[in-house]
Amino acid sequence: MPDLLVTNGKVVFSHTVIEADIAIDEGKIVALGSSATLPKADKVVDAKGSFVLSGCIDPHVHINTQFMGASTKDDFFTATKATSSGGTTTIIDFATQQKGDLPLKAVHDRRAQADGKVAIDYSLHTVITDLTPEAVAQLKQLIDYGLPSFKLFMVYRKEGLMVDDGVLFKVFMEATSHGGLVVLHAENAAMIEFLVDEALREGHREAIYHALTRPPITEAEAVHRALFMANYLRAPYYNLHLSMRQGVDMFREARRRGQPVYAETCTHYLINTMDDLRGPNGINFICTPPLRTKEDQEALWAGLADGTLSAVSSDHEAFTTDMKKIGKDCFDKVPNGLPGHEFRLPVLFSEGVGKGRISVNRLSEITSTNIAKIVGLYPKKGAIALGSDADLVILDPKLEKTITPEESLYEMDWYPFEGMRVKGWPVVTISKGKIIWENGKFQGKQGEGEFLKRKLPPELSKRVIA
Ligand code: URP
Ligand code: ZN
Repeated sequence: MPDLLVTNGKVVFSHTVIEADIAIDEGKIVALGSSATLPKADKVVDAKGSFVLSGCIDPHVHINTQFMGASTKDDFFTATKATSSGGTTTIIDFATQQKGDLPLKAVHDRRAQADGKVAIDYSLHTVITDLTPEAVAQLKQLIDYGLPSFKLFMVYRKEGLMVDDGVLFKVFMEATSHGGLVVLHAENAAMIEFLVDEALREGHREAIYHALTRPPITEAEAVHRALFMANYLRAPYYNLHLSMRQGVDMFREARRRGQPVYAETCTHYLINTMDDLRGPNGINFICTPPLRTKEDQEALWAGLADGTLSAVSSDHEAFTTDMKKIGKDCFDKVPNGLPGHEFRLPVLFSEGVGKGRISVNRLSEITSTNIAKIVGLYPKKGAIALGSDADLVILDPKLEKTITPEESLYEMDWYPFEGMRVKGWPVVTISKGKIIWENGKFQGKQGEGEFLKRKLPPELSKRVIA
């Protein structure tokens, strides 16, 4: 007898939506069909009138992170509990190599913070900051260990994260030759540093200057450089938080010529604009790349709809209003990053599916299936299929809510989407066959999530898969 049946829901697959029942046993999907033919189960969840989607994967979160003088409000338990309320069942965070240390140490240190705390499954991208010969040797070790993705920053020189083009080129070569994937924060550091210095010299300190000193050309140039290098090496690459129209155009062109390259955008680039930086809490909205314009938003939505962009992440970083005030006197001192991973699915459903910009099938691809394929978790994750992990989210398309900080499960006092009326809300989240979110209550447990080892598909370097 299965442990759980999810009945009567509109089950969302990549190319179709079918009213069907899903049988779950020992954490896996064991049957799909109609309850007339499926065996009885210990527990039944009736999803009538709702969509049943593959549990969401967030490929870009920064939990329990210290950055620019602040320390995020969450930890691996509170953050995974919160994001499960928004239908997310897997996250990928970062293990950042400290200068003088080796990357594997960063992974062990980060696992010590997350293992036993996470309520949902998780994995890590390793951030390479110091490419010593020993670190180069560890790239293959990390791939064999189950962590095939390496994040590089083309910016944040004074924060000690930035690498130069030589390192970028070398990691592209090494990672690719062993079956790895470069994951990139693409912005042109020198141009931004020049523009920031100019703005400061002219006496500008206000939040809007964060965006004005990082105009689209500063991101476009770096994306272009990375695409050019990747093309020369035939290397796959994943561009984090693409924020603007020129980037979408470049990715459309690159994918058309067959480059195995992938780009995500983030929820806030689709919802917020640089005008938020001019508001009374302008410093709260400082993130990198900066928020852009309505025109950029429309290009990002178009890119999501036509397959140019493969994913939407949250780039969640839970800095409170007080933490942001560290930089109240000058835009370049504000801790970068925005909270809100728990609202990714409802906001995308409401603004994307609800407003006819993307189909519900596409929504599931960009929040789950594509990500699983790109990062090497498919079909364990990202699929409603026999043998896949029973990670599911039931979304009621009629349920309306207003986003407020009172919803926060870790005392976050503001959100970039605050005040938004959202139609369509996750009502049940199932992680490996267990209900962890239902009727507005967390029902999971600290430590029930596991560390996921990943392996990229061989076709990643040969053709575009998502
Ligand atoms: O502003 C942002 N995005 N903060 C997080 C660090 C990063 O750049 O991903
Ligand atoms: Zn970044």
